[in-house]
Amino acid sequence: MLSYFRPAIDAMTGYIPGEQPKPGTKIIKLNTNENPYPPSPKAMEVLHNLDGEWLRRYPDPFATEFCQAVSNVLGVPADWVIVGNGSDELLNVLIRCCAEGSDRTVVYPVPTYVLYRTLAAIQPARVVEIPYSANFQLPIKELVAANGAITFIASPNSPSGHVVPLDELRKLAQQVSGIVVIDEAYVDFAEYTALPLVQEFENVIVLRTLSKGYSLAGLRMGFGVVNPKLGSGLFKVKDSYNIDAICRRQQRSYRPSSRYSSNARSSLQKRLCR
Ligand SMILES: Cc1ncc(COP(=O)(O)O)c(C=O)c1O
Repeated sequence: MLSYFRPAIDAMTGYIPGEQPKPGTKIIKLNTNENPYPPSPKAMEVLHNLDGEWLRRYPDPFATEFCQAVSNVLGVPADWVIVGNGSDELLNVLIRCCAEGSDRTVVYPVPTYVLYRTLAAIQPARVVEIPYSANFQLPIKELVAANGAITFIASPNSPSGHVVPLDELRKLAQQVSGIVVIDEAYVDFAEYTALPLVQEFENVIVLRTLSKGYSLAGLRMGFGVVNPKLGSGLFKVKDSYNIDAICRRQQRSYRPSSRYSSNARSSLQKRLCR
């Protein structure tokens, strides 16, 4: 019998999300890199003050107040911010926008976040995986030669934790013709960000999430910083109401330099480096 699904879906193995043990299970959980500390009191305040009126209407498709908070904190224009249902949604939107078949490929160094491969398989788009060297130097020459419609670099990387130096990312962005996505899911634990490259190169996008540094994985909130030319393409593809009315109120808690988040970060660093 003919399959109900496209051949690409029949052929692929679905993404296997990290196991979530039952509440109350005594376990040290490392598989999905969640934060062991609770969300900030500000984040909890938003949830405690939930207003039914927020829920009656569809939410703001642009999450305007949250974008303004990101703008204030990171010093980027508010209209350069696109908000996603987790940064996973934005990865999905990017692949849907840019990749296709064997000409418009998805390229990334490995080992890295395995979802890139799954999203490309769904599209489907050909994937080119280039191994990192033993000391995790970015394989720039090979990445450029692969000529991806989209090149993903997770920095800090998962699972290695290394941060890719800015000058290496800069060389990559200069030489590729496609989009370079710098996935900064773990940047709140790093010393520096690739954010300046978004202003330097029109083909660079930086993705962030509130799942890791802000202990809000359960809310599903991520964002991208992207110039409006690319951003307008992504807006065509993302679901209009991708950020629910509760999430988008989290602009009140988006304060990366707050004493709360830096205390949690430094005690986490101490515990992990013992
Ligand atoms: C490198 C990387 N990017 C993105 C994500 C997804 O983050 P979010 O929870 O915002 O979808 C993860 C989650 O583990 C990750 O490891």
